[in-house]
Amino acid sequence: MQGGGRRFDPGTLHQKVSRVSLFTSATGRTGVVLAAVRSVVQLGALPRRVRGFYTRALWTAIRLRDGFAIWSSAPPKDLATLLRLLTGRLNVVELGTHVGWSATALALGEPDRRVHTFDPRRWPTQRAYLELVTADVRDRITFVEGSGTDTPLSTASVDAVFVDTNHRPEVVEGCFHAWSGRLVPGGLMIFHDFGHPRHRGVTEAIDRLRLDGSTVGRFFVWTKSVD
Ligand SMILES: C[S@@+](CC[C@H](N)C(=O)[O-])C[C@H]1O[C@@H](n2cnc3c(N)ncnc32)[C@H](O)[C@@H]1O
Repeated sequence: MQGGGRRFDPGTLHQKVSRVSLFTSATGRTGVVLAAVRSVVQLGALPRRVRGFYTRALWTAIRLRDGFAIWSSAPPKDLATLLRLLTGRLNVVELGTHVGWSATALALGEPDRRVHTFDPRRWPTQRAYLELVTADVRDRITFVEGSGTDTPLSTASVDAVFVDTNHRPEVVEGCFHAWSGRLVPGGLMIFHDFGHPRHRGVTEAIDRLRLDGSTVGRFFVWTKSVD
């Protein structure tokens, strides 16, 4: 868990962010501003505790000029749907951490939930957002620096897996193959950005896998059979 320990230095962090992710051409300034406005408009969809965190995270991102965090993190409406889908699921795996907004929202969503979140890349601003929640929340999140297509966990049974990686079809398929065997019977595999015109890889992977499931908002939900 990387949440505890040394406090981050906002000055140094700001320089790092400026180099790596600030309003990059990949996102574009307009895209970031639109994403920020959308997030503010949607904040009311979130449960109170998660809304408090998301509001502080947005403000921190603006202060750090971390436009990529705003653009790339699941928006509040999607998070609210995800939290509803995961009600009562206490052992959750997330594939695709980025700066940790959705992992933190998942931990805040249920007081007894444990979240293992995987990302091959460590993003420099992550620590700043983790410091917005208390240690009891941070301690329930395990950050794993590695691909979602690997399964280094010793935990045999997982209640749900949230797939939100780079959306390339081979990665999404790899995540399914790696984790479907670890799910408990009745467990959920939830894929973000299903049907999104900019992330066709998710739909392509689900078609190729011939998964039978349901669409809920921007998610595809597959349930592991009970027999
Ligand atoms: C859309 S962002 C995740 C956003 C995050 N779930 C949220 O809503 O706050 C996608 C992340 O997937 C990560 N990623 C790319 N390939 C991956 C892989 N093979 N396994 C896990 N994560 C991956 C990227 O580094 C990036 O941080």
